[in-house]
Amino acid sequence: MHRLSRLLLVTSILLNGFLIFKFINHHYINLDDVQYVETRLDVYVQTQNCGRNFNKIQKVFPQAIAMADEPCTEKEHVFKSYIEPIDKNQKLLKYSYKYLETLKICQSGNKMLCMIVEDDILFLHKNETTWNNIVLNTMSLFSNDETFWDCSKRNLWLPTASNGAKTLCRIFSNDLLPAFTDCLAKYLESLPDTEDKGINVLLDRCQDDLKITQKRFLLVNHSGQKSLLGS
Ligand SMILES: *[C@@H]1O[C@H](CO)[C@@H](O)[C@H](O)[C@H]1NC(C)=O
Ligand SMILES: *[C@@H]1O[C@H](CO)[C@@H](O)[C@H](O)[C@H]1NC(C)=O
Repeated sequence: MHRLSRLLLVTSILLNGFLIFKFINHHYINLDDVQYVETRLDVYVQTQNCGRNFNKIQKVFPQAIAMADEPCTEKEHVFKSYIEPIDKNQKLLKYSYKYLETLKICQSGNKMLCMIVEDDILFLHKNETTWNNIVLNTMSLFSNDETFWDCSKRNLWLPTASNGAKTLCRIFSNDLLPAFTDCLAKYLESLPDTEDKGINVLLDRCQDDLKITQKRFLLVNHSGQKSLLGS
């Protein structure tokens, strides 16, 4: 009797495991990565003049738009006000405004997700793997999560508190952007100059304020070039 019920238990665990596996797999099978990413993801590259790895990034993501300080490519927004020489604090602040502008441009687009990367990133994987990783990591099985992603960190898909780390590679959900950009703008205007208004810090604060989940996956690595922030 005991053996029979144990056998039944084991069988039902195996069966459940199999069904769950099938169910999850069903979502991932037959996905057209290219179509999925192209219809859902806008890509913006923070760059001064399309230098550094900009060309490589554009090869991986032909849809990439340069957020540049001077004209340098076909698909671009030019932020002229960001080029004059300024001290480091001002530079940080200008970069925060540029990042906020980028988010607003994305917000007014019609894609579900926007990815913002620095122009000095290196992709860790082959092209197809990069696209596939975006699909696997940003697709939610059951609903649209209230989630942003940091795509420059290894982290087993577990949600974590946002960590205020750099802005090498981030993906934002468009649905959350109206509230999020309001929050960033509010801090940029209201924080005293003695407080750090670097975009890293503000992203972190607003994600905390709005209780936006931060997930991470590893897509890119830093090429070791000097940060755009000049720090
Ligand atoms: C990477 O994949 C995308 C989507 O298939 C394609 O448009 C792009 O040209 C590819 N780039 C390279 C360098 O293979
Ligand atoms: C990322 O690059 C740094 C040096 O630029 C290197 O030390 C590190 O191992 C790289 N990480 C991965 C995951 O490739």
